[in-house]
Amino acid sequence: MEVNVLKNYKELSSTVADIVEAQIKEQPLSKLILPTGSTPLGIYEELVKRELDWSLVITFNLDVYLMNIDHPESYQSYMRKNLFNRTNIYPDHSHFPFRPTSAFEDKIDGSMGIDLCILGIGSNGHIAFNEPGSSFKSRTRVVELSEQTIEDNSRFFDSIDEVPTQAITMGLGTIMESKKIVLMANGVNKLNILNVAMNGEVTEDVPASILQNHDNVKVFYCD
Ligand code: GLP
Repeated sequence: MEVNVLKNYKELSSTVADIVEAQIKEQPLSKLILPTGSTPLGIYEELVKRELDWSLVITFNLDVYLMNIDHPESYQSYMRKNLFNRTNIYPDHSHFPFRPTSAFEDKIDGSMGIDLCILGIGSNGHIAFNEPGSSFKSRTRVVELSEQTIEDNSRFFDSIDEVPTQAITMGLGTIMESKKIVLMANGVNKLNILNVAMNGEVTEDVPASILQNHDNVKVFYCD
């Protein structure tokens, strides 16, 4: 699998923003899957600057913590702050995983297919909150976060004890049904896991390795 190495984070952000922009311009009714975490922040900043027309776009977020959605570190707050409140997207058009999870899956199905899915990668190879060992056939469900993920994400909270231990995540099977997938990774600490996921064995121990089985994936990395 080809990994495109970019000069720096600015270039990573503008390259992925170019892909989102082209998608929305070509197909104003696009259905997108969107990520959270620190890596997409530059992409959202870039997309806001471009003042695109989001009025017909429908979005689905990859995952949410099981926590108060009004907490500043909830993924709902993150999306409102970094993207949704700064574009003309309709609040009714932006969806987050919810329970019953089968109803969320029905909502995705009802949208007639995802055009573009943007992903980050966790330091243990997770995508969304599909931790190592997740079934390649998994659908949206409630999951327990691994110790590694809780530790990695504790930087967003005052203490590690405040990090939620459960989440609702789209499944690997759900993600793989997207027509196009973009995976981005920022920082030398992601290089090893990215290499393992893209060039190593395709195994449920490394959730992102499933992407080797998809025929339209672009990977972007900067150190
Ligand atoms: C969280 C999210 C993932 C994201 C990962 C990496 O665990 N659930 O979707 O890919 O963090 O985030 P970062 O970009 O902050 O390294």
